[in-house]
Amino acid sequence: MTTGRFYITTPIYYVNDVPHIGHAYTTVAADVAARWRRMSGERVRFLTGTDEHGQKVLRAAEKRGVSPQAHVDELQLNFKRLWERLDIQYDDFIRTTEPRHAAVVRELLQKLWDQGEIYAADYSGWYSVSAERFWSEEEVLPAGATLEDLRAGKVKGVCPDSGREVEWITERNYFFKMSAYQERLIAWIEGHPDCIRPHLRRNEVLGFLKKPLGDLCISRPKARLPWGIPLPFAEDYVTYVWFDALTNYVSSLGDERDAWWPADFHVVGKDILTFHTVYWFSMLLAVGLEPPRSVFAHGWWTNRKAKISKSAGNAVDPNPLIDRYGADALRYFLLKEIPFGGDGDFSHEALLGRYNADLANDLGNLAHRALSMTEKWFAGVLPAAGEALPQDLVFQQLGVDACAKFDAQIRELGFRDALEDLFQFIRAGNKYIDTEAPWALAKRGDTARLGQVLRCALECVRIAASHLSCVCPSKSAALLAKLGLDAPNLSLSFTTLAAGSRVAAGDPLFPRLEAEAPPQEPVVSEPVTPEIPSIEYDDFAKVALRTGLVVSAEKHPKADKLLVLKVDVGEAAPRQICAGIAPYYTPEELVGKTVIVVANLKPRMLRGLESNGMILAAGDAASLLSPLREVAPGTQVR
Ligand code: MSP
Repeated sequence: MTTGRFYITTPIYYVNDVPHIGHAYTTVAADVAARWRRMSGERVRFLTGTDEHGQKVLRAAEKRGVSPQAHVDELQLNFKRLWERLDIQYDDFIRTTEPRHAAVVRELLQKLWDQGEIYAADYSGWYSVSAERFWSEEEVLPAGATLEDLRAGKVKGVCPDSGREVEWITERNYFFKMSAYQERLIAWIEGHPDCIRPHLRRNEVLGFLKKPLGDLCISRPKARLPWGIPLPFAEDYVTYVWFDALTNYVSSLGDERDAWWPADFHVVGKDILTFHTVYWFSMLLAVGLEPPRSVFAHGWWTNRKAKISKSAGNAVDPNPLIDRYGADALRYFLLKEIPFGGDGDFSHEALLGRYNADLANDLGNLAHRALSMTEKWFAGVLPAAGEALPQDLVFQQLGVDACAKFDAQIRELGFRDALEDLFQFIRAGNKYIDTEAPWALAKRGDTARLGQVLRCALECVRIAASHLSCVCPSKSAALLAKLGLDAPNLSLSFTTLAAGSRVAAGDPLFPRLEAEAPPQEPVVSEPVTPEIPSIEYDDFAKVALRTGLVVSAEKHPKADKLLVLKVDVGEAAPRQICAGIAPYYTPEELVGKTVIVVANLKPRMLRGLESNGMILAAGDAASLLSPLREVAPGTQVR
């Protein structure tokens, strides 16, 4: 639903954490959605921030010998710095230690207290200091022990999150009557099919709500935890961190609450979905505010299949990735690599492969070809549009369709599909240049058609760069500048660029990158060129090298790095060859290409599929060899 205003949020991150690509992922996703809405003319509010209260923050500050406030003032900058490097355009950054936030937390608590929705009671249970929460008996029971052992103190209970010992404590606390909202919650979620997405997650929450819902303990005695927001009706208690943190989505709005609430999207990781639906929705219903229109729970980035987190010690720092690939390429990779909602394993190979295949190859080549040919044959002056031939109209229509899908997908946070649609158009642009062969038109002197073909290619570049600017803001701006534009222009007409304006190819936007060389052993002796032993011609002649035309290519079902190709080497039927080139080439770009094949290698099985031959590459799989001139499939290579 378009309402002309769009309010999107990220979780507020634990200020103690060092930001990693998991945090970057959520924030980039929300930023892209926000940028796209802004570009579409909507009024946008994009909120992020830091969660600064709680036991862990207090402990970390004590350990450093600084006040908790000084500690959080310093650490929140880690997030702000990373967001700046990643080109995140947030409208507000909220910190839970700000007075404007505390005031709203206290306002909501007071309202609930006045309404009789909060009561005091004694609570006893197994408490984990590290997780800052109580756990049930079953949850803390160590493997192999019985409940009787635990109750009798024969074994120690263990926190399921941290593995640390839990303590049995009894304390008076304040409780929010969340159980009273169970039916209303179910009715709300059933009546608003999009309020939890992906829909699979909505079913999970509804499943959770089949069990009786307890009340929520919303306080901590100040004596145990002084670092928090005092309850307005019991100043010797502070507010439970999640009640405090969730309120940020409303507190940030100040006196513009009516204008922006309910939020359109809370973008969160699936780890905190229950807090954002069960807790948050019931808190909102209780204070008379609508739940958000949608909570979108995305999946996890993993590292060697384990969720990336500070505590797992497998965090991936975005900073060196930004240094090497640039912020735009990292933003693109994060959103393109895995569907929003699913999990994905991070690897440097995947990032390099994606960078080279999509950005350097598909987009970079299209831009460079279109611009440098305009420089070459029109002295860099944009040709006027000529007569559009049927194939131009087909190409244009492809663009219209791709952009419509892009828009629809991004609105629903379907980033991967959106980018796939846009890149199909970009690849079609490369194909259009291949088939319209401007070089042949130039040779023939057909300037009118040449101008029209280049204009179509340049309009494709403009449309692609303009749409992509929500994902790759600075590279898109640089690309648009090469076309003489100082802002994105989303028009889908192929006569948008002004004839006569100047365009320039300049340096490639995304220079191809090689895999990083493994660290070299220090050279201690004279450098030597490794000696290459000679062979007889007869030995060489044993290797049957042939040209092969790739007629089809697809991903290997069981191996990420392999592509399964059907290659015509001049035999009765194309043969199947599995090649480890998936990190560097997309299946589409290989079809129609001529490669060099070792045709008499004994067939072998690669992850369950037969591979009948080998494809030659220079150095590594990133540089396949191809004949310089066109030759028929099966031609001998010597
Ligand atoms: N402070 C709470 C959130 C309160 S919101 C009212 C919190 N903070 S956190 O620092 O742990 O951040 C959690 C969020 O960071 C996740 O929900 C997710 O958005 C992001 N991610 C953290 N690790 C992640 C991955 N490994 N993969 C993807 N996203 C991850 O929870």
